[in-house]
Amino acid sequence: MKVILGFSISILALFSTAYATNPQDYNINDTSNNQKYSTNDDSGLDILYRNAIAEGGSLLVYEGGDRRNGQATTNTAFNARFPGMNATLIVDLSKYHDAEIDKQLASGKLDVDVAHLQTVHDFYRWKKEDALMQFKPPHWDSVYPEIKDTDGYFTATAIFTFAPNALRSTYEAGEGPIEDEDFLNAKFKNKIVLTYPHDDDAVLYQFYKLAQKHGQGYIEKLLSQNIKWVRGTGTPRNIISNGTIPDAVTFTSSNALVPTRSARVITKIPLISNFLTWGQTAAIFKKAPHPAAAKLYVAWRLSTQAQKGSFTTWSTRKDIDPPIGYKRLEEYTNTSRKDFVDFMLNRTLVEKLKSDYEKLIGPVKGDTPLNDPAQ
Ligand SMILES: *[C@@H]1O[C@H](CO)[C@@H](O)[C@H](O)[C@H]1NC(C)=O
Ligand SMILES: *[C@@H]1O[C@H](CO)[C@@H](O)[C@H](O)[C@H]1NC(C)=O
Ligand SMILES: *[C@@H]1O[C@H](CO)[C@@H](O)[C@H](O)[C@H]1NC(C)=O
Ligand SMILES: *[C@@H]1O[C@H](CO)[C@@H](O)[C@H](O)[C@H]1NC(C)=O
Ligand SMILES: *[C@@H]1O[C@H](CO)[C@@H](O)[C@H](O)[C@H]1NC(C)=O
Repeated sequence: MKVILGFSISILALFSTAYATNPQDYNINDTSNNQKYSTNDDSGLDILYRNAIAEGGSLLVYEGGDRRNGQATTNTAFNARFPGMNATLIVDLSKYHDAEIDKQLASGKLDVDVAHLQTVHDFYRWKKEDALMQFKPPHWDSVYPEIKDTDGYFTATAIFTFAPNALRSTYEAGEGPIEDEDFLNAKFKNKIVLTYPHDDDAVLYQFYKLAQKHGQGYIEKLLSQNIKWVRGTGTPRNIISNGTIPDAVTFTSSNALVPTRSARVITKIPLISNFLTWGQTAAIFKKAPHPAAAKLYVAWRLSTQAQKGSFTTWSTRKDIDPPIGYKRLEEYTNTSRKDFVDFMLNRTLVEKLKSDYEKLIGPVKGDTPLNDPAQ
């Protein structure tokens, strides 16, 4: 994530020269039809920036996540990229943010401007409830169709990936797990750390796919490995990295596809097993107190500089190359953004699975991962 700060400095320099030549082309005040706005460069940001400053410069974003400081770098980068802006990015589990947003919507008065969450079904519901603003930021046309709303009410601006993770040294020794079956190997008994599936819908989806592909017998064998169950999806990676469990492994953490030189824990994309990729969805509320700042934020997240500088997996934009050593996202046949959306929209299924796993594993124990000082 440090990378964001680095790039924000370089784009500060770029910013002063990249002034838009034809402001009228951008149609920035038109929230109902942003067709003219679908430019393929980042120059529209300058106009949005001016409007956001004129509006007062404040912005409140609810970011889904399980590390309290998980968006600190992005928050700093945004305010540094747009001097005079004072954005506040608050991280919490998406399933808590959405409940808070519903409360604000019911009261008729919103504090939040932008939601950027895992719980994609909320966005479909909020659109139906007429709670969202229609906004197609620049580059919207390039976003994968299955992770954006056709009418521009919501758009994914980041892709998250959960796949096997282990110590770099474990993989270098050829001992790390890559495929589903590897996690059943006797050598991983007492070594597997996983996030409770009934505490995180993305992890629940992984278990759903495992059972679908290999049958319930796979789940039973996996559970008999004496799993260490934790809250939060950053926690397994930490436990592997800090050696709480020596040579531990997981498949419920995300990690940079191209590890930094100093990374102790690395991830491997499986060759034949499924892996999870989902679009973290962003939308602006119709009654957002800072609509201009909200537009600037969403547009910035989707801008070429931000996508290239901040993403550690694939971009949500088809026109941005995959990380070095990886294929284009659509070339992986064992992951599906659409399948995840369909799953999330089926709340009957999700709630049933949650209750099944609670019975199987026991209730979620532990404090919110946001209070873990190690995160
Ligand atoms: C957009 O709307 C604001 C507030 O109504 C107005 O001050 C501004 O001039 C408008 N900008 C354009 C480009 O129409
Ligand atoms: C920035 O916004 C936060 C949250 O609304 C507020 O507490 C803080 O005083 C603001 N800072 C400035 C310099 O306006
Ligand atoms: C290791 O990471 C876990 C999970 O984040 C954390 O709870 C624990 O305190 C860490 N241990 C050390 C010694 O830092
Ligand atoms: C996906 O899985 C199938 C078999 O399940 C396999 O044949 C294919 O090569 C896999 N790889 C990719 C990159 O999609
Ligand atoms: C939800 O999932 C269940 C179980 O797979 C399925 O029977 C049902 O048709 C799904 N509902 C919808 C609306 O897709």
